[in-house]
Amino acid sequence: MSDQRGKKGGPRASSGAAGKPSGKKVGKKTMGTRFISRTMTEKVKTAKGRKGSSTKWLQRQLNDPYVAEAQVRGYRSRAAFKLLELDEKFLILKPGKRIVDLGAAPGGWTQVIVERVNPSKTTDKGNANQIVALDINEMEEIPGAKILLQDFLDPEAPELLKAAMGGQADVVLSDMAAPATGHPATDHMRIMGLCEVALDFAEEVLAPGGMFLAKVLQGGTENELLTRMKKSFKTVKHAKPPASRSDSAESYVIAQGFRGTDKDTKA
Ligand SMILES: C[S@@+](CC[C@H](N)C(=O)[O-])C[C@H]1O[C@@H](n2cnc3c(N)ncnc32)[C@H](O)[C@@H]1O
Repeated sequence: MSDQRGKKGGPRASSGAAGKPSGKKVGKKTMGTRFISRTMTEKVKTAKGRKGSSTKWLQRQLNDPYVAEAQVRGYRSRAAFKLLELDEKFLILKPGKRIVDLGAAPGGWTQVIVERVNPSKTTDKGNANQIVALDINEMEEIPGAKILLQDFLDPEAPELLKAAMGGQADVVLSDMAAPATGHPATDHMRIMGLCEVALDFAEEVLAPGGMFLAKVLQGGTENELLTRMKKSFKTVKHAKPPASRSDSAESYVIAQGFRGTDKDTKA
């Protein structure tokens, strides 16, 4: 068990409207999913009182095809496309699976999970808690998912999650990220700390054959963590989905084929 639990990871989230995707499929082909690509660049006039950095952020948002497509499809965040692209490649979200979504706010990933896992139509584990989403920040309800407002680093978090799930998980996802400090070493340490605690949890709750996917920073997963993952899972890979900004150091580690715990092998 890592010693990261109990250390605080800071919040970061925004909210937006939920809804159904438009189903519009045009433009550039990415990891198997097609999105609109815009060619016209919108310029933002520098407003009085607005910092240069926020003007830059606004300009990037206005010219980001993923932001535009997220609005069209009713996704709460452009991050939704990262999961869609990862799912195209690694076949993560199948109907009937029990899934935990850590660092879920504002809810783009949770929306994608609900769409693909379709919890209301499954019979074996068909209840609202088949999909459990957790964040330190509040997020609006998403029908089909149980949402927990909780700091994952709080020692109570695993028990609250287990109680909400009511059974072993097939997939544990973590898109958790503490707000960037601008100090690369600190940011790296914080994100890897969250990844390590998420792995502790995944090893505790995954059913044999299960999958763990977590956000990491460039340089990939640290050796110690990678060695641990390779022991617990049959395959461990890294991927940077096209929706992940090229100037961002983030990527994802995908560990598949959980070997199970002693408890599972004795059962
Ligand atoms: C990149 S955002 C997630 C975006 C989300 N996957 C989506 O699709 O909308 C990272 C999230 O991690 C959450 N987070 C960071 N530290 C956390 C912690 N200790 N416990 C729970 N959530 C945390 C932040 O509040 C933030 O909402």
